[in-house]
Amino acid sequence: MDVDCSNLDLAGFVPTALECDAQVVDNQCVARNTWIMRISCPDLARQITPGQFFMVRDPRATDPMLGRPFALLDVWEDASGQPAGIDFGYVVIGKMTGLMTLWRPNDLCRMWGPLGNGFPVPDVDRLCLVAGGIGQTPFLAVTNEALGRKTYGQPHRVLHRQPKSVSLCYGVRSNDYLACVDLFQKSGAELHISTDDGSCGHDGFVTDLLGAQISSDAPPEAIYCCGPEPMMHAVGKIATASQIPCWLSLETPMACGFGICFSCVTRVRMDDGTTDYRRTCVEGPVFPAEKLCLS
Ligand SMILES: Cc1cc2nc3c(=O)[nH]c(=O)nc-3n(C[C@H](O)[C@H](O)[C@H](O)COP(=O)(O)OP(=O)(O)OC[C@H]3O[C@@H](n4cnc5c(N)ncnc54)[C@H](O)[C@@H]3O)c2cc1C
Ligand code: FES
Repeated sequence: MDVDCSNLDLAGFVPTALECDAQVVDNQCVARNTWIMRISCPDLARQITPGQFFMVRDPRATDPMLGRPFALLDVWEDASGQPAGIDFGYVVIGKMTGLMTLWRPNDLCRMWGPLGNGFPVPDVDRLCLVAGGIGQTPFLAVTNEALGRKTYGQPHRVLHRQPKSVSLCYGVRSNDYLACVDLFQKSGAELHISTDDGSCGHDGFVTDLLGAQISSDAPPEAIYCCGPEPMMHAVGKIATASQIPCWLSLETPMACGFGICFSCVTRVRMDDGTTDYRRTCVEGPVFPAEKLCLS
């Protein structure tokens, strides 16, 4: 289905979302197949909160026609400390992300957002973040907010209780895929790394790191997770078995990003025991693990 979003009244669907042609400020390869893009977009930067996303497309191109969803890595500030734009991380997967590697400073990027619900404001003493691959991107802003280093949203989201600790269990295939480790170290998160091939940190899956956290003297009281679907399913099951509240951020492929095309539905459990479908772009992408029908 082709949707030319430039002709849509976005505000009619998601009242807080904006559409703009914004300038690329920087676009750097930071790890294997992994890039960080910096965009100048003060209005979006003022509004977006951790775990929310936005859609991106090339305003000069018709192929691909549809935008692609990306999560906020972080908001960057201008010299006076005001939100000036956003950083996001992307892995080169296919057509759009391949073309994005060619974008240079001053190129225009069409964006619409902020979209989706994002992660809840933490209200626990010990928060554990579990990331697989590029699924780490939402967690820099989550950590900055949780540890009181930055505020997000308009009006700013308010922390009722500041976690005493935020741990990030970050798993990748091998050490050349590790991205933004320095940023996470600076953020104050306790970083635990795993690699599938043992080239850095724990030799094994990121779920092993979560298991170690849960069986420690100070287990997490909430888990936020983002990454490949099988990993999120495993994390959801571990959290349920341990009776720890857990939120999963889905990366369901999307066409419009704001609720009109129904290309992004996921099956959820209803309160009466039946199941139904929900649009990941408007009712997610973050869902409580117990609501999702995990296979
Ligand atoms: C809410 C949300 C936030 C996201 N945040 C990020 C982010 O911060 N960084 C990032 O790198 N990626 C993120 N993604 C995934 C990203 O949108 C896709 O990688 C991107 O759309 C791929 O576009 P493409 O044109 O390069 O690939 P395409 O040419 O569209 O696809 C290439 C291949 O990848 C498959 N594919 C495409 N998208 C997905 C997907 N989401 N899941 C599984 N398979 C897929 C296609 O079926 C196809 O086989 C996010 C997705 C969602 C829904
Ligand atoms: S992507 Fe169109 S309804 Fe969700």
